[in-house]
Amino acid sequence: MGEANLTRANWSFGTPGQLIFGRDSVTQLTTLAGRLGWQQALVITDANLLDAKVVEPVLLALAAGGVQVEVFGEGEAEPSIAVAEASMALANEVKPDVIIGVGGGSNLDLSKNTAAAFTHQGHPTDYFGFDKVPGPTIPLVCLPTTAGTGSEVSHSMVLTDTEQQIKISGQSEYFRPDWAIVDPQLTYSCPRQVAADSGIDALTHAIEAITTVDFDQLEIPLGETCAYDGRTELTSSLAERAIRICGKSLISAVNSPDDYQAKDQMALAATLAGMAFSNSGVALVHAMEYPMGGELHCS
Ligand SMILES: NC(=O)c1ccc[n+]([C@@H]2O[C@H](COP(=O)([O-])OP(=O)(O)OC[C@H]3O[C@@H](n4cnc5c(N)ncnc54)[C@H](O)[C@@H]3O)[C@@H](O)[C@H]2O)c1
Repeated sequence: MGEANLTRANWSFGTPGQLIFGRDSVTQLTTLAGRLGWQQALVITDANLLDAKVVEPVLLALAAGGVQVEVFGEGEAEPSIAVAEASMALANEVKPDVIIGVGGGSNLDLSKNTAAAFTHQGHPTDYFGFDKVPGPTIPLVCLPTTAGTGSEVSHSMVLTDTEQQIKISGQSEYFRPDWAIVDPQLTYSCPRQVAADSGIDALTHAIEAITTVDFDQLEIPLGETCAYDGRTELTSSLAERAIRICGKSLISAVNSPDDYQAKDQMALAATLAGMAFSNSGVALVHAMEYPMGGELHCS
């Protein structure tokens, strides 16, 4: 048996610690808080979501669990390194025992970066690249408010270097949240354009996951690891299901404000696609996102 066979006879699959899905699943925060004895939470979100009262059920659930809450509300679309520094500074002041990201991929990625930087007391940029988080972080809960990025289940974190006008990412198993709470109701207030853009993001994740290189064809030297494992039966199953759901529900979820069934289905599709791509890997579309997104703010 040659080295290549030895390396690629195995594949692994990363997941968040627990995935909780469905309408009103946000209330599970109360149960978690009681069970785990959380005292002080830092909620990372943005002004739009605070204004639209999307964060309110999260705050209510934490209050019902007896948790003190500090809110970092300065999240922004495609968060900059400066915002990550500000978020980390607040974490250092508050010393939370749990970090809770509420938002689209932007706020969730910011919460992942803050959890790593606060726990390991590094600079937010220390976690760019593959496998740069030195160990587990304090508990991290992610609640998506868009049906798109799959950040709530992924091992990726993306920030924007505004000086270089480029998006930079980090991948680490320690970026996978301990809990992904996907309550589709949090997406209902998404503006139409955001729903459309994020739906296409989910569909692209799934298409790239199902067309990427097979795990046993990925050339990784023996003993080395890689940010992605290649396509497996499991990633393809998840991606195929996500593509089918997008085919059935994406247009209605965007065009019919009252089609909550379709919006729920898109929340599921985004999470399935996130589980798929964050294990299999993506391809050219997402590779182009880094230079183009930093310049054009199109993702
Ligand atoms: N970590 C990953 O695995 C991963 C994967 C893909 C993309 N990303 C990153 O995610 C970011 C994009 O995230 P996104 O597409 O979810 O958008 P976003 O988080 O940037 O949000 C876009 C806008 O929509 C608003 N918004 C979000 N949810 C809303 C709601 N329910 N009601 C009203 N307004 C709402 C936000 O306030 C924001 O202004 C990019 O930075 C991208 O690089 C990360």
